[in-house]
Amino acid sequence: MIADRRYAYGDAALADRDWQAALDLFEQTLERVPHWPPAYLALAKAALALGEKDKARAALERVLALDPADHLGAALLLARIGGRPVAEAMPAAYVAALFDDYAPRFDSHLVGQLAYRAPDLLVAALDRHLPGRSFAQVLDLGCGTGLMARALGSRAGRVFGVDLSPRMIAVAAETGLYAGLEAGDLAAFLARQPPAEADLVIAADVFCYLPDIAPAFAAARRTLASGGLLAFTVQTHQGEGVVVGEDCRMHHAPAFVRALAGAAGFTLLAEDDAVSRLDAGRPVPGALFLLAAP
Ligand SMILES: C[S@@+](CC[C@H](N)C(=O)[O-])C[C@H]1O[C@@H](n2cnc3c(N)ncnc32)[C@H](O)[C@@H]1O
Repeated sequence: MIADRRYAYGDAALADRDWQAALDLFEQTLERVPHWPPAYLALAKAALALGEKDKARAALERVLALDPADHLGAALLLARIGGRPVAEAMPAAYVAALFDDYAPRFDSHLVGQLAYRAPDLLVAALDRHLPGRSFAQVLDLGCGTGLMARALGSRAGRVFGVDLSPRMIAVAAETGLYAGLEAGDLAAFLARQPPAEADLVIAADVFCYLPDIAPAFAAARRTLASGGLLAFTVQTHQGEGVVVGEDCRMHHAPAFVRALAGAAGFTLLAEDDAVSRLDAGRPVPGALFLLAAP
């Protein structure tokens, strides 16, 4: 009871940006329950806000020691402060837990409050660059609740979706828009597809959860028929390569995406600036790409 209360007060202090009070309260929580990952993670957040990187790093390492699958995403925060390679920043258990939790309010919150429109932007780009084109077989990577299939509408024939979050998949299933759905990682899903059959592989707001997009590009390329398309959005940044942003998502430099696309054998059909949603009322910088398989 006392630990619960300390933790709740700590949470409230975090929300009030009273970092020192939050840090003290989480330390007091951990004196009573020394093996509780959420309190270490919360302590790390307060310590990071106070600039106490060593304390944050130690707390995050403790989270990982207690929960090696990393449901809370400690590796993501560690990667942000240089304590883990970026490649390890997005554990599957964390992404699945994040979106399982989000699934029931995903559409209303993201579309209603954050002006989410990645699927609409991708469809508008397809219409602009390839007017009148339809796609008999579509692979929807990170399909979530099914907004991408809905946006494609009659442009799509059979749509197959994959998502790490079983609860997102359950919501997508209710739409009746998918010929097949599976809960799992997009890389394993792509690896199981027959070669050179898909007309469109699409990923709306998914690669911001993928630290290494090169294997996904290669796997998508293998599944695509000649002339097929890989269409996706990314969050962008001004620097080079891929970084973990302050919003704890992966941000890709457009030039880096272009280079990876070329290395995977794609032709760049279109690259446009694209704001997929708002964050704290501000547009999130991003881009969309249409890549063609030769
Ligand atoms: C922001 S949502 C976008 C959902 C959907 N594409 C849309 O536009 O509404 C990102 C989705 O990608 C999924 N995801 C992230 N990484 C994934 C991976 N490696 N494999 C499969 N799904 C993944 C998440 O579970 C989540 O449902």
